[in-house]
Amino acid sequence: GKVAVLMGGISAEREVSLKSGGAILAALQQAGVDAHGIDAGPHNIAVLKSDDFDRVFIALHGRWGEDGVVQGALQAIGLPYTGSQVLGSALAMDKVRSKQIWQSLGLPTAAFRVLTSEADLDGLVESLGLPLFLKPAREGSSVGIGKVETQHGLLAAYQAAAECGDDVIAETFIPGAELTVSILHDEALPIIQMRTANQFYDYEAKYLSDDTIYECPAALSSTLSKTVQDLAVSAFKALACHGWGRVDVMLDAQQQPLLLEANTVPGMTDHSLVPLAAAAAGIDFTQLVLEILAQTLE
Ligand code: DAL
Ligand code: MG
Repeated sequence: GKVAVLMGGISAEREVSLKSGGAILAALQQAGVDAHGIDAGPHNIAVLKSDDFDRVFIALHGRWGEDGVVQGALQAIGLPYTGSQVLGSALAMDKVRSKQIWQSLGLPTAAFRVLTSEADLDGLVESLGLPLFLKPAREGSSVGIGKVETQHGLLAAYQAAAECGDDVIAETFIPGAELTVSILHDEALPIIQMRTANQFYDYEAKYLSDDTIYECPAALSSTLSKTVQDLAVSAFKALACHGWGRVDVMLDAQQQPLLLEANTVPGMTDHSLVPLAAAAAGIDFTQLVLEILAQTLE
């Protein structure tokens, strides 16, 4: 049948999504799938059904496309789609709710506070220490994230994060390794460790820099790898996520893994992580997108 690859969208991650969607579309077409790229917006979701599409590959990142809104619209018109459903999409997009659920289940995550106004900055440094991170509660690709080194930098970082709308989450800084666990068919792929000369694995390090180093599989003992992979899969399932995705994890100086966040439509650009992890497991990009697409038939 006819497959729509939804990309672009209306979030701050629009440009990233166009790259992910372009790569996915090209791979599907090369594999002989009758796939059509669609720059998705509120105006054209409802007509997918009348345009005779049978299935949808969601390559949208961020708000509206990854947070359950598009998923709900597709569900309502009866079109099968890739990835997590409404609940998992909405929970994973929200870093606060994600961490609250993980905490309640005893899954380790860095200490945090929720900030709803500038007044909540009072006492923050005393409770979390410095440096700390301020992040918009519902964004992706590190958009709006600031690393705060001094009390002096707090307000500007808060305002930058709050500009994205909604709540801001303050998270204690974890010195250690930045890891990510890609998930396919609800199972972990090889772990990647990201190394950047930037302050952290930010937007520039993710998409623009050619200096970011990706170690895959990460050089961890097999026991620790298994622990991290099992934690990521548990964290993914705890949020009702499904099918494919990616869970970001810090490994602190004591080798304790701490959950950062889950992504239900992780990047699929030529700089992205899931394709790299899949390749390390012997799954090429075409096979990866075909396997994700096949999940719509389950
Ligand atoms: N939010 C970006 C696309 C990612 O997680 O890869
Ligand atoms: Mg994310």
